[in-house]
Amino acid sequence: MRTLLFGASGQLGWELQRALAPLGPVTALDRAACDVADAAALRHALRAQAADVIVNASALTAVDRAETERELALRINAQAPQLMAEEAAQRGAWLVHYSTDYVFDGRGERPWTEDDAPAPINAYGESKLAGEQAIQRLMQPAGGRYLILRTSWVYAARGGNFARTMLRLAAERERLSVVADQFGAPTGAELLADVSAHLLRAVHATPARRGGLYHVAAAGETSWFEYARWLLARASGMGWPLRAGADAVAPIATRDYPTPAPRPLNSRLDCRRVQADFDLYLPPWQQGVERMLAELSRPGA
Ligand SMILES: NC(=O)c1ccc[n+]([C@@H]2O[C@H](COP(=O)([O-])OP(=O)(O)OC[C@H]3O[C@@H](n4cnc5c(N)ncnc54)[C@H](OP(=O)(O)O)[C@@H]3O)[C@@H](O)[C@H]2O)c1
Repeated sequence: MRTLLFGASGQLGWELQRALAPLGPVTALDRAACDVADAAALRHALRAQAADVIVNASALTAVDRAETERELALRINAQAPQLMAEEAAQRGAWLVHYSTDYVFDGRGERPWTEDDAPAPINAYGESKLAGEQAIQRLMQPAGGRYLILRTSWVYAARGGNFARTMLRLAAERERLSVVADQFGAPTGAELLADVSAHLLRAVHATPARRGGLYHVAAAGETSWFEYARWLLARASGMGWPLRAGADAVAPIATRDYPTPAPRPLNSRLDCRRVQADFDLYLPPWQQGVERMLAELSRPGA
């Protein structure tokens, strides 16, 4: 299995380099090696490699920035996956792509299933949904050799994410205010990368097998507020020198923390389908966050 990976230096891309390594040679391209917003450069990279599997971990993930840079968000999050799908469909290659809970409007409290109708409420969600739709439109008639994995609240020891921001702020400040009415599951890039490798191995081993759209997140749910409290309590227990501990975190409402892009309140993803179809177990979210903390606690990390 020869794999071509885009977005190789992001949270997920970095972990995919590790998780995909035992499946075969991986050509890992970061933004410097291929700017996926540049259609000609992307086509050239796709044709130069002739891979059996294309994995797209590149994305414009800055949710607020996407509001003012809609055109760029569409080029990276929709046009690039479309070009990858065109190439994959033509060549019979597999395409693995990632999407987000932000394709939903966040109403209600029930975890979203793959059959629920998307209705994004911000430009990032719109661009990610357009990417999903382009892949499905092009690849379904060509044998369905795609996996679109929707996930939520991604973190990793390497990269920018909520957990690392909280740890930094808690070292600087006495008190923190964190949104308490948005719910979801923090999902480690490690877990998502490992699940991707398992899925790819399963579909690649059975030539007639089709892929599809799946929700993949760690098990359980929390709010950003509870997540921050849990994280700081654990970090304090591990001896992190924090000025603000768990008790110094105050809950606030989303409406009291205005951002350029509105956020969905309900980001819960129902992940039963991927577990049933691929005989997988998704561990509780705390497990991976604990590992990240341990990793960040290493001297020199
Ligand atoms: N982060 C989350 O909370 C979250 C939640 C739900 C779903 N997801 C989805 O999960 C996937 C992985 O996200 P992540 O957390 O790993 O994101 P990330 O850490 O922001 O990584 C995205 C990567 O894409 C690269 N990239 C951006 N624009 C590019 C371009 N024009 N050409 C080539 N590469 C480009 C970035 O490169 P630079 O480092 O050079 O910018 C970065 O390496 C994405 O599809 C995202 O939409 C993420």
